[in-house]
Amino acid sequence: MCGIVGYIGHRDAAEFLIEGLRRLEYRGYDSAGIAVSDGARLQVRKTAGRVDDLRRLLEKHPVSGNVGIGHTRWATHGETTDVNAHPHVGGNGEVVLVHNGVIENYVTLREQLQQLGFVFRSDTDSEVIAHLVAQNLREELKFSEKLSDRQLCLRAVERTVEQLHGTYGLVVLFRDYPEMLIGARNGSPLVVGIGRNEHMIASDTGPLVGYTEEVVYLDDREIVLVTADDFELYHREEGRQTPSVQLLQQNVDDIELGDYPHYMLKEIFEQPTTLQNCMRGRLNEDEATAKFGGLNMEPIELRRIDRIVLTACGTSWHAGLVGEYLLEEFTRIPVEVEYASELRYRNPPLSETTMVFAITQSGETADTLAAMRECKRKGHPTLAICNVVGSTIAREADGGIYLHAGPEIGVASTKAFTSQVMALTLLSLYLGRMRHLSYGAGKRMIAAIKAIPGQVQETLECYEQIKDIARRYCEFENFLYLGRLYNFPVALEGALKLKEISYIHAEGYPAAEMKHGPIALIDESTPSVVIATRSGVYPKVVSNLEEVKARRGPVIAIANPGDQKVAAMADDVIFVPEVEEYLQPLVTVIPLQLLAYEIAVLRGCNVDRPRNLAKSVTVE
Ligand code: G6P
Repeated sequence: MCGIVGYIGHRDAAEFLIEGLRRLEYRGYDSAGIAVSDGARLQVRKTAGRVDDLRRLLEKHPVSGNVGIGHTRWATHGETTDVNAHPHVGGNGEVVLVHNGVIENYVTLREQLQQLGFVFRSDTDSEVIAHLVAQNLREELKFSEKLSDRQLCLRAVERTVEQLHGTYGLVVLFRDYPEMLIGARNGSPLVVGIGRNEHMIASDTGPLVGYTEEVVYLDDREIVLVTADDFELYHREEGRQTPSVQLLQQNVDDIELGDYPHYMLKEIFEQPTTLQNCMRGRLNEDEATAKFGGLNMEPIELRRIDRIVLTACGTSWHAGLVGEYLLEEFTRIPVEVEYASELRYRNPPLSETTMVFAITQSGETADTLAAMRECKRKGHPTLAICNVVGSTIAREADGGIYLHAGPEIGVASTKAFTSQVMALTLLSLYLGRMRHLSYGAGKRMIAAIKAIPGQVQETLECYEQIKDIARRYCEFENFLYLGRLYNFPVALEGALKLKEISYIHAEGYPAAEMKHGPIALIDESTPSVVIATRSGVYPKVVSNLEEVKARRGPVIAIANPGDQKVAAMADDVIFVPEVEEYLQPLVTVIPLQLLAYEIAVLRGCNVDRPRNLAKSVTVE
């Protein structure tokens, strides 16, 4: 959740760190800070607020030096105040530290350290780690005179992490040893960027883009020591490791806003391209099926699968629901969609022939990772549908499907959702063609899938109309989103988008379920967004729409061109291209994303960084 960055080399560290924090800000944005050393002096600047507030603070009180660490925070322990912001200072200033994660035994450790005379300034669990490193450094200095500076600092960090229960990604800078930084990981991601006479450490690759193309992802229980010229990687039990250097395939354009006012809007408009990227090279027209390079399972193993569990959180869970409908329809394999936070603890019976899929944009969501690990521990093949290459879930899964959607920076997920649905559609085709789906049916599916990017492009043309609709609806405080079958998860997703970024209460429902409760909410002040595209259940949805109108509820309908019936009943209608029923979520979600976006903008909300939310939820 929090974002961490560290730099050592020849550049102005503060400049690098601030740019890095700006790129990481989507991970957390309630406070920010940096610590920089010029070799003689170690200076800390931190503040509650955004990276821009920190930038202003630095203009007034600059720091200089070529080594430093930085942090952007999403509060877990302690309010958002200047003192609770990172970096935290340990001891009498011999250590500064940035931390992402949650330390479960921090109360006990804090008491022990207080007894030793350490004075705590903040309410955070992270300050405990800073003091503990300082304490362990003092111990090492007392008893280990023969150690080199590197060994000394490494030992201090090793001893510290041995005492921690919980999760951490952390980076430590030592006042008296500014020629190195030490990072450690357990549960919260860290990646090292290898440059020429410079090294960087960060929670994700964002800050490294444009500076290096070579990265090393840390595994849990690993510790890294970086200097300007080299780095050493250690595993807590296995000792020195040979690092596996990977190529970073991102460029600066992928993470820049360009002409868009917000990342969310940019990402909504990228969807024709990201959908194309997701299907590129994955359609086998000759055999009327899909193909995947990374599932790492032979067809014979896949044929044995008789149950699929999809697990995820948030928007990815909604994509999973669409996946359930798709997979059951095309493969006839029973599918369950589980909230990862529930699956990880509830011990469900999973037969030997159950396949588990984790669906995640970031590949770092703590609950999704834990659910996947739990299933893996039980011996299940666990696969991932994931966007971020090299993320923890991508690395730990037995195989999977990358979305290739490029970095998603807006906190509200948009392009990742449609790419996840596309990946699940391709998976349904692939598994379906191994079973009962005919060649002809496969061919028809491929033709329909190939048309989707163009149809999404066409759908985006509704943006001007949505701006107008948003102006008329932006002051309502409650919304209902209704859809049936494939459009039920879309209703959930539309409602989630609205509440995430505009703080309006919104509920998604299967349209007919409305009669069992939400209908009580309907009056002139509760608009309903009704997805009423042509499908097998079209007449049923139209009846539900009538029920809303009968209670004077305003209706914004999503319908197919030429639908005069719906147009006459609804207060507003947004037309989207007519596509096969199973592909509808890919087009019907677009106006809902745009509507949420426009309403949030009109209400003056921070669209890309909504309050209390974080892009990547790496704590339970
Ligand atoms: C957070 C984000 C959501 C996202 C969810 C799951 O809540 O704000 O946009 O859907 O996490 O994230 P994942 O990276 O696992 O898809």
